[in-house]
Amino acid sequence: MLSVGSFVAGVIQEGDSMKALVLAGGEGTRLRPITHTSAKQLVPVANKPILFYGLEAIASAGIEEVGIVVGETEAEIREAVGDGSAWGIRPHFIRQERPLGLAHAVLVARDFLRDDPFVMYLGDNILKEGIVDLVREFESNRPNAQILLAKVPEPQRFGVAEVDDAGRVVRLIEKPKVPPSDLALVGVYMFDSTVHEAVASIEPSWRNELEITDAIQWMIDRGLDVRSHLISGWWKDTGKLEDLLEANRFVLEALEPSIEGKVDDLSSIVGRVVIPKSAVVKNSVIRGPAIIGENTTIEDSFIGPFTSIYYNCTVRSSTIEHSVVMENVTIVSIDRIEDSLIGKEAVVSRDLNLKPAALRLMVGDHSQVKLP
Ligand code: G1P
Repeated sequence: MLSVGSFVAGVIQEGDSMKALVLAGGEGTRLRPITHTSAKQLVPVANKPILFYGLEAIASAGIEEVGIVVGETEAEIREAVGDGSAWGIRPHFIRQERPLGLAHAVLVARDFLRDDPFVMYLGDNILKEGIVDLVREFESNRPNAQILLAKVPEPQRFGVAEVDDAGRVVRLIEKPKVPPSDLALVGVYMFDSTVHEAVASIEPSWRNELEITDAIQWMIDRGLDVRSHLISGWWKDTGKLEDLLEANRFVLEALEPSIEGKVDDLSSIVGRVVIPKSAVVKNSVIRGPAIIGENTTIEDSFIGPFTSIYYNCTVRSSTIEHSVVMENVTIVSIDRIEDSLIGKEAVVSRDLNLKPAALRLMVGDHSQVKLP
């Protein structure tokens, strides 16, 4: 088996500049209210912004020139990515004035892409197997497009492929009411320059977007070489809460345990758990897989499996399981929180002295509060 290094040297040769186009715009309506104030691609999964998984995958495939299509959250994405040196990539930020679809993002990135082949990567997708082998496959076969398919239980939520007996893609339909198969289009695509004519030729869909699905169908209809690859590992489009929690679960399951923070004698840590140096755990149980962020304090609490608590948080006298807690959150005397995503700076607490006993809420637009 080739190492990543020799693959890079062997396949992406000089003058053969495979680029990447990462889509980090979009409104993230399915993750409101979190996305009222922040980019969905920066929500942390296992204490790392989702977008970074994609950038790591791209960098591992030896791709350096990375166009990042941004919308209203441009400033935040720029700040998070910085100069790209963390991954050894050169980011080029491309503004998409309105979220008019994935094919529209290719249109606005035309000057950056030129006629070079590229990987298009949706910034809210996480793919277990990365893209090293996929880029290699594309580079050696050089089809006009290579798409990835994954078997999913609810294909109607995605672009869906109909394949013939020989495994060739004959039709792609965006979010069909009656899906012709259970094969969803994964948000990672590879194209050569023929895609530019395709994205310029299609019409907006019912949701008024230029769909990349329609552009690929256009290529198929013209007899261009569109290949598909059924992925074997897990894949998640994290645009929805349940999917985000599942991605968090998948990533935590593969966590390399490391306990560097201060854990007192009254606490117990079980299973795959990460506690960084600056974190403090007092009189608590942390049952992995779980990750605690920098400068976070856990006190008199139970942190259950599949939980990620980001930096600068305080959790006191509470139980949290199967949840993602973002930065600067305070949780006090809550028994228990499950299947939840808690946004930055949120305070969730119980005050037993409050009379009359009632919920006192300041909940953002589109928040969801479920009480037993
Ligand atoms: C987009 C694509 C869809 C694809 C999905 C993968 O959907 O249009 O074909 O299956 O990404 O994440 P969207 O997230 O825009 O609804």
